[in-house]
Amino acid sequence: MLPPLSADEAQHSERLAALLRGELAACGGWLSFERFMELALYAPGLGYYSAGSVKLGTGGDFVTGPEVSALFGRCVARQCREVLRAVGGGILELGAGTGRMAAAVLGELAAHDALPERYSILEVSADLAERQRAALAGLPPRLRERLVWLERLPQVPLRGVILANEVADALPCRRFLWNDGQVQELGVALGSGATPGFRDQPAAADAALARACEALIGSLADPLPPRYVSEVCLRVTPWIAALGACLEHGAVLLSDYGLPRRHYYHPQRSGGTLRCHFKQRAHDDPYINVGVQDITAWVDFTRVAEAGSAAGLEVSGFATQAAFLLASGLEAFVAEAAAGAAHARLAGEARRLIMPEEMGEAFKFMALTRGYDAPLSGFALQDLRHQL
Ligand SMILES: C[S@@+](CC[C@H](N)C(=O)[O-])C[C@H]1O[C@@H](n2cnc3c(N)ncnc32)[C@H](O)[C@@H]1O
Repeated sequence: MLPPLSADEAQHSERLAALLRGELAACGGWLSFERFMELALYAPGLGYYSAGSVKLGTGGDFVTGPEVSALFGRCVARQCREVLRAVGGGILELGAGTGRMAAAVLGELAAHDALPERYSILEVSADLAERQRAALAGLPPRLRERLVWLERLPQVPLRGVILANEVADALPCRRFLWNDGQVQELGVALGSGATPGFRDQPAAADAALARACEALIGSLADPLPPRYVSEVCLRVTPWIAALGACLEHGAVLLSDYGLPRRHYYHPQRSGGTLRCHFKQRAHDDPYINVGVQDITAWVDFTRVAEAGSAAGLEVSGFATQAAFLLASGLEAFVAEAAAGAAHARLAGEARRLIMPEEMGEAFKFMALTRGYDAPLSGFALQDLRHQL
């Protein structure tokens, strides 16, 4: 049972549903799921990320690692410090949410006198960028003065680190239906009569989707059962290519929930990984609560690695979140806290970040580097690259 929508939420959702119905009508009654997700999340002023709902954190719809604890950002800062020490330059964070990770990373780097030249943020949501500015305005001046917000990726070559936590899963994805060797695209249409809402509607797959599905299914060890539904995010490749094009020297550090391809497209995962988040409840119906709920799909890290290699980047690390955070000093950060309530709170947050049944296993870290040959300490405890 999902909580009911407030009157404002219902009104907002109806406005976005009207926009989607208009787009459907203009496109002959069928939309790719990718376009539906793009409008549901990013339609200017109306999409989930573009409009004003709380979204992240305990008062919102879902909680990310940086929202669970500043420990997350402090560990990420360790990895940044190591790379920055070698290559210099700055940090670029993509999709910075509420700005919590930026605050934690800058605080940790300042404590080691290792501030980056700049901490740039590229955020597609004007609403979240506004909140980031307000939240980070309270930082001490020497940290605040490093911050800049960008409208697009830098046009000049970047040295340093690019960070993206839970951004790849928010890129609009396509859905497909695989049935006895045939691939169809699962798009969106409008029902009629007693069921007038949005619904799944298969259609012929275009060449790009068919090629992608055939390649990925051809690479699997086990055959997929009939009527297998899943997602593929074709936008990952141009996204990583764009990051690769701007990174001259340093590392892209991606963290997200996801799997290597052979585990992602497992025969038993026959309904895919699409998930929606509304007021801390997860469910799998993207066609309700449009504009007031998050829609995400897990990340195929093999696709990310392939995209990285195609962009001339080295896949320099792949590990679970638990392994990355533990290798990056998580336990020492907790141990540093004075005994008592603060220590107990931090220990609880650390558990949530690393326990396998919480975020520790489902979330992964991946490093893509250019011109950086030294081992990355965040990946010292685990190397899962052979699974990609
Ligand atoms: C699930 S939230 C994660 C927020 C934050 N990184 C965190 O971990 O709390 C996804 C974020 O990515 C942003 N986003 C989505 N696509 C993006 C893109 N192509 N470039 C930059 N930001 C993007 C969204 O606006 C949002 O801030």
